[in-house]
Amino acid sequence: MKNKKGLWIIIGIAIIVLIILAVAVILPRLKPPTFSGMLLQGASAAHDFSLVDENGEQVRLSDFRGKPVLLYFGYTFCPDVCPTTMAELGKMMRELGDQADDVQVVMISVDPERDTPERLAEYVRYFHPDFIGLTGTEEEVSQAATPLGVYYAKQEVEGASGYLMDHTATVLMIDKDGSTRMIWPYGTPAEDMAEDVRYFLR
Ligand code: NI
Repeated sequence: MKNKKGLWIIIGIAIIVLIILAVAVILPRLKPPTFSGMLLQGASAAHDFSLVDENGEQVRLSDFRGKPVLLYFGYTFCPDVCPTTMAELGKMMRELGDQADDVQVVMISVDPERDTPERLAEYVRYFHPDFIGLTGTEEEVSQAATPLGVYYAKQEVEGASGYLMDHTATVLMIDKDGSTRMIWPYGTPAEDMAEDVRYFLR
């Protein structure tokens, strides 16, 4: 009688442990993931643009198929927003560790007038050796930016010899199948972007 009671207690504890395990392990997997970036619901294929890399070669967005591509539109003369974002993207790559090999960060210049392929390549590599910089004619850049909802405009500065570019400062992700998937607002921390990207590398 006493032994039987002991057995029931053990079975009871085992059942409770199993329930706790199920809640801790299975439930988080069933729950939809939460992201720091804005998830774009419903796959929509990104417009396949063609731009020029540092070697003067035409590069298409579809050439990166198989890897999530993080796109950032900016320019090397940018005084604050671009360097901050590029630094954060570099930090994100280090945060990803080995998984960084499966991600491509591409900066597209909205200032092709001043951003030569060489200048752009040197700029992006300062932030991470695997970063790619793409530029092109005014028309090519516009054909890449507009379908993605990226805005930019030249802004003359009174008294200064140069000019500034007003531009959208979000980071966009095209998933490995070529669909626009996520938008991160300016200022998203590297750790948060890395966590979001990891989900798409699974
Ligand atoms: Ni900028």
